[in-house]
Amino acid sequence: MYPQATFHFPFGFLWGTATAAHQVEGNNNNNNWAAWEQEAGRIKNNDRAGLACDWWNGRWKGDFDRATETGQNAHRMSVEWSRIQPTPDHWDESALDYYREMVRGLRDRKITPLITLHHFSNPLWLEEQGAWENDETPLKFARFARKVAQALKEYVTIWTPINEPNVYTALGYLQGFFPPGKTDAAAAFAVLRNMVRGHAAAYSAIHEVQREARVGTAIHYRGFLPARPSFPLDAWLAGFLSRNQNDAFPRALDKGRLNFLFKNASLREAAGTQDFIGVNYYTTELVRFSPLDRKNMFMQHSFPSGAPLSKTGFIADVPEGMFTALRWANSFGKPILILENGVEDADDTLRPQYLIEHLYQVWKAVNGNYPIKGYFHWTLVDNFEWERGWSQRFGLWGLNTKTQARIRRPSVDLYAEICRENGVSTAMMEKYAPQTVEKIFPV
Ligand code: FCB
Repeated sequence: MYPQATFHFPFGFLWGTATAAHQVEGNNNNNNWAAWEQEAGRIKNNDRAGLACDWWNGRWKGDFDRATETGQNAHRMSVEWSRIQPTPDHWDESALDYYREMVRGLRDRKITPLITLHHFSNPLWLEEQGAWENDETPLKFARFARKVAQALKEYVTIWTPINEPNVYTALGYLQGFFPPGKTDAAAAFAVLRNMVRGHAAAYSAIHEVQREARVGTAIHYRGFLPARPSFPLDAWLAGFLSRNQNDAFPRALDKGRLNFLFKNASLREAAGTQDFIGVNYYTTELVRFSPLDRKNMFMQHSFPSGAPLSKTGFIADVPEGMFTALRWANSFGKPILILENGVEDADDTLRPQYLIEHLYQVWKAVNGNYPIKGYFHWTLVDNFEWERGWSQRFGLWGLNTKTQARIRRPSVDLYAEICRENGVSTAMMEKYAPQTVEKIFPV
């Protein structure tokens, strides 16, 4: 017999899901991803976002209904720059009206909206101008941020200017999996530097429009551990990756100085430009120094042995890494929001366990008095997973892309119970993922 416990979260905790415009809206034809999807071999199975979850035709309504009916009180979504500013000299007011309708739709359903301004996609015209390699982009981004803040300020007070600048830079400019497919460290440095400047300029623009705004970034925090802990080069590598992937961007917003890929830049205007720390945590990996592996930058990556793997082997279930991520986030001395966490799992066999165990770590951090204000699960409905196309299914609800039907996975009901209870209980563990009980209450 296990203790019948309930791990409660603070009053007013935000419970939601996160989405991104290009992944859910459908028919986004004027951005860098739409162009990239046309190129053979760029996306797994040559998939395209296509109609995605068809939100631009109104299917957000049903999805937001389902969110509210299952106890969620917050939602993180992004706006698509290429819809709002389709050409450099034109603002499309009807697109802004539509986003206003969506965020009002959230408020009507008692769901607190959180808006991301840039989630990986750039308007084609910006891409043609060199996107974030171009030193003028931060200013253009700040103008866009001001425009969106003015349009949505009645309904939105929590803003994330740029989603995962570290992933955008690493995958687009070091590894070449995202557009523009470069492997160029100098370009990567220029891009991250301009994203710091863009964040800072957007921070000021949003605060000028709305004094009560809360603005923070969403950093993809990845755990890096040495594969052989007593081998100094593995330990050095893990530290190096963590400093560059995890620390570089938010430290620059803290201190006004960017250290990235052995270079640095003074960016004083960025110091003190985050009101909260947003953490996206999915997994933790082991790194091993591998002197002959030139192609992989002299390193090998693996997952901790024994950690359950997601369907395509993309994510290992390492919940303790969530605690590490939150301890790291707490070192900035600001409120914390978990802006993404989840696992690809079409059959929903791993997700319930993943969800419970990660939330248990969040609860532990809350009880260490880390100021954690909310949790956003990735994601509400299966959506277009970038270079992995439709091969990975992260939704609480599944999606039939042919019919647009939503498929209710068991995790929907688990998450609903968690949101309504504002906590996780032994009864929920026994019902949805019995194997977690023993882990949480070892005998
Ligand atoms: C994050 C992205 C998000 C989604 C999840 C699975 O890195 O921000 O858009 O693709 O991974």
